[in-house]
Parts: sequence; structure tokens; C-alpha cells
Amino acid sequence: MQLPFPLRQAIEHEAARQNQPSLSQAALSQAAAELSQKYREQILPGKPFISTDAHRLAYAAVRMPATFAASYAALVEVHRLASTLRIESLLDLGAGTGAASWAAAEVFDSLRQITLIEQDRHLIELGRKLAMASEHQALRSADWQAANLRMQTDFALHDLVVCSYSIGEIEPATAVRILKAAWLAARQVLVIIEPGTMKGSSAVLAARNQLIESGGFVAAPCPHQNACPLAAGSELDGKEAENWCHFAARFDRSPLHRRLKGGTLGYEDEKFSYVAVVKHAVQPAPARVLRHPLRHAGYTRLQLCTEDGLQTVTVTKRDKQAWRQARKTGWGDVWGDGSTNQPIE
Ligand SMILES: C[S@@+](CC[C@H](N)C(=O)[O-])C[C@H]1O[C@@H](n2cnc3c(N)ncnc32)[C@H](O)[C@@H]1O
Repeated sequence: MQLPFPLRQAIEHEAARQNQPSLSQAALSQAAAELSQKYREQILPGKPFISTDAHRLAYAAVRMPATFAASYAALVEVHRLASTLRIESLLDLGAGTGAASWAAAEVFDSLRQITLIEQDRHLIELGRKLAMASEHQALRSADWQAANLRMQTDFALHDLVVCSYSIGEIEPATAVRILKAAWLAARQVLVIIEPGTMKGSSAVLAARNQLIESGGFVAAPCPHQNACPLAAGSELDGKEAENWCHFAARFDRSPLHRRLKGGTLGYEDEKFSYVAVVKHAVQPAPARVLRHPLRHAGYTRLQLCTEDGLQTVTVTKRDKQAWRQARKTGWGDVWGDGSTNQPIE
């Protein structure tokens, strides 16, 4: 997964054209390190942590590729499982520099209108500049609104509403109120995406429970509407560590990303949790792969979430069709419908 080329180019251009010392490459590297540190320490609700121009540009350079990859992966699943939905409008709440909107524009060809709500005017300014580089008219003509979600009592109706890495920055009681308004504003689907940490996953789980209670149907990732079997402290593969529902999206690191963040790997894996809830029930996935498949010479072992709870399935070479499918199946994919989980063109 790569950022769309025009976005990558626009970020490089923004970073290169800065000539103030406060936005030098050394300052951006420092800001990128501060962002990583704040993510590791976990974000305190109500305390904005992107607070300087260096943070904003560093966010676009090092975090936006990661949140784009997570949003893209979640939205591809929505597209796959709720394929009859026609998404023409998007509301992006806590939009930052617009990563989720860029992802939605890549996934939904039908997208015509985008509204982004963000509290930080300087992030909006940067996001708007980047969006002007897009080949998608919906991004170039998007409506960016500066507003504090805490102060909003309702939002205009849109086919798709996305909260990408934003709801976890808001105190839980206020988040409940914002999610209620977001659900009312979602004509077809509401998607919540959070970091794949225990805290991020519990924010997603709380949202899932709230939205099911409000009459919603989970389209992804869960193959059912039952209580989450991973939430009960269950063991998966004999391990309790990282035993919460999360997935990983791999993205290629640009030269700028490598310069600012160091390291030698050409890619990074962004761990994320998500839930997509629809207004009208869709056919759920038969099962979801919860961990990297364990691949051995003659068999592959899959850890699955199913309607009947957590299951381990062993696929042997003898079952040729299942074996072929298992070879193409990875962590986060659907299992059991005969599809090969190839990326959507
Ligand atoms: C981690 S960033 C995520 C940005 C973007 N959605 C993404 O996926 O890259 C969280 C964003 O939510 C915004 N945010 C947090 N609380 C907010 C609030 N109460 N009202 C509006 N925006 C808020 C922050 O300013 C920040 O831009």
C-alpha cells in the first residue's frame, strides 16, 4: 500500500519548500519523534498533541501514510461486504490533514461530496493544500469546516461518516454523544478507526456496542452481532498478549518518511482497530482471520472469529481448494467464502 502519488508528491513539496529553521528537516525529525512518543504514551483525551507547524507537517509526512493505510484497509472491507451501497457523500470527523477522505476517494468511485470537520485551522490549511493535488474532484472541492466536535449537537446527513483516529482523543462520555450524532448523520454507514492498541480497541468496542444498541448492523470486521469473543479476556493461540481485536496495514515508506523517522525498512505495519456499522443488515463474512496464519510445510493454521466464537482451523494440503485459498489469506482477511481477498481494483 502506497499513498496516492499526487499526495506523496504534495507532502514532499510542502516539506521541501519550507525555509524557516522551525521547519528544517532536523526540526521535522524532532517533531516526528515527539509525535511517536506521544502516541506511545497514549493520548490524553481533550489535550491536542499536534500543536506546532512542525508537528502538523511531520504528521502529514509520517502519520498520514499510516492512517491512510488503516482507513483504506477498513473502507475496502466496507466496499467488499456492503457492495450494494452507493457512497456519494462522506463526512470525515476529526479529519486532520484528510487521510480518511483520501482513502475513501480511492475506494468509492461514486464519491462526489466530502465534508471534513477539524478543530485545528492550521491542519485544515495544510490538508486543503494537499487535497488540491488530488485527481479526485470530490477532494479538490471538499468542504473543510473548522469546528470543535464537542460543541456539535448534530451533523448534516452523509452516506458515509468516518471517525479515523479521532474519537479516542475525546473523553468517553462526550464520545458517546458525538457517536450518537454521527450515527444519526450516517445515511448508510459509520466507520470508526482507532490505533490497534488495547485502548484503541476498547474505544472501538464501546462504539460497536453503542451502535448495535442504536439499531445498527456490523458489516466489518465482525462476522456476527454477538458480544465480542476477544473482549472477554479469552486466550488466542495460548497467548494473552495483544489479545484484542486489531489488524495491520502495511505501507511503503517514502524517502521523506525514512529521512524523518530513520530506520532502514522499506515499509511499516500500522496496527489498527475498526468497526463499520450499517443501517441495513448485509451478509456478514463467514469468518475473520484474527492473526497472521501459522504456515507450516503441510498445513496452515488459522485463528478465526466466527458466529460461534473463536475457532482454530487447520487447512492441509490435501484439501486443494481450501489450501489454495489459505495461501492467499492473511491477517484481517475474510475466510470461508471461497474468495481470495485480492485487493479491489
Ligand atoms: C490523530 S489525528 C487523526 C487525523 C485524521 N483523521 C487521520 O486519520 O489521520 C486526530 C484529529 O482529531 C482532531 N480532533 C480531536 N478532537 C477534536 C474535536 N473535539 N473537534 C474537532 N477535531 C478534533 C485533532 O485536531 C486531530 O486532527
